[in-house]
Amino acid sequence: MPDPIGVGIVGVGAIAEYVHVPGVRCSPGARLVAIADPNRDLLDRRQCEWDIPRTYEDPLDLIHDDEVDAVILCTPNHLHAPLALAAARAGKHILCEKPLALNLDEAREMLVAVSSAGVAHMTAFTYRFVPAMRYLKHLVDAGHFGTIRHFRSQRFQDWPETSLGWRQYRRLAGSGELADMASHRIDFGHHLVGPIAEVCGALKQFVPRDRDAEGNPVPPSDTDDWCSFLAFFEGGATGVFESTKLASGRGSGGKGHDFVEINGSEGSGIYELRHPYRVLLARKEGEYREVTVPREFWKLPEAQRSEVPDDPERDWRWDQDVAFLTAIRERRLPSPSFTEGLRCQAVMEAVLRSWQERRWCAVASDTKLSR
Ligand SMILES: NC(=O)c1ccc[n+]([C@@H]2O[C@H](COP(=O)([O-])OP(=O)(O)OC[C@H]3O[C@@H](n4cnc5c(N)ncnc54)[C@H](O)[C@@H]3O)[C@@H](O)[C@H]2O)c1
Repeated sequence: MPDPIGVGIVGVGAIAEYVHVPGVRCSPGARLVAIADPNRDLLDRRQCEWDIPRTYEDPLDLIHDDEVDAVILCTPNHLHAPLALAAARAGKHILCEKPLALNLDEAREMLVAVSSAGVAHMTAFTYRFVPAMRYLKHLVDAGHFGTIRHFRSQRFQDWPETSLGWRQYRRLAGSGELADMASHRIDFGHHLVGPIAEVCGALKQFVPRDRDAEGNPVPPSDTDDWCSFLAFFEGGATGVFESTKLASGRGSGGKGHDFVEINGSEGSGIYELRHPYRVLLARKEGEYREVTVPREFWKLPEAQRSEVPDDPERDWRWDQDVAFLTAIRERRLPSPSFTEGLRCQAVMEAVLRSWQERRWCAVASDTKLSR
């Protein structure tokens, strides 16, 4: 691998700015060499703001740039699969935003492509990098909770009822709240408890979102703005998931309600995004108490950023790019990889089918593909 690793970002919207540009910048031995976006005005603005050598309106030109070793795909969801396939064919390492794809078939094709190309691949399940989530995972792996019996996740936010842009159309997003917010929480379940075997889901749309923020008419949404499902994990635990952006008073983003609770035979644990440096822990027959996340979980050791964050809601997100680029340098597979993206996609597909057919559905079992 040449030093530094040349990185190209495709799609220079919100998540590229908030997470990936600073993430690459605090990764040792990496350099942002190119950006691509069909929006010329935005591209020019980003080039100045971010001081980037080259820009492309066509993402394929960035993918074929010889100085680009790794691409970060930050486009709307419908472009993840075609761009990842092109990048894999060109031998580029790929960090792809979530959800991995529009559907399970696409996700399967993506995993096969990166596996046969031998490139590093990662799905941007960013919230795995919240210090509180990293610590909770450590405690699970150390057996602190005993056998996990229940998992529950709530993602409640209070967003305006106006258009969500590309996010509110199935052909561009796959699904609504399920793909946008619940996908991360499905990954929490897999990360903390293990594979989900069966689901029974429900979706609902409450508002048409047929006006933009300025009041101009737009085509109405055809996606869910609330989703929920029950799950049985392969290991025997049960799961309850609920997610919506229509929960008045719940805030949004890092200040919104993002809650995970696990109950095990020996104790329980709670993660909340609003408190990224704290967990709640309880022993059997005891009471919940607040525990500060030990400092070793505050940031990845390789991340070139201050351990004490400038912005506690934001800075831990950058460790995702550090993990991706460190794995490339060390010639190992990043985590979470496309395998985790595919497993999440299989659960979403089962939830959609379950609601359509009003029954419990098994999660596709071929998603335990090798890395
Ligand atoms: N991991 C997370 O926490 C997180 C948070 C937000 C968004 N996301 C994901 O990131 C992706 C982008 O979301 P966003 O909020 O930044 O959206 P956005 O709309 O702000 O930005 C998307 C960008 O992609 C560009 N684009 C459109 N077509 C393109 C093409 N053919 N080639 C290159 N660029 C193209 C658009 O012009 C825009 O600049 C989505 O998949 C979303 O689900 C993930």
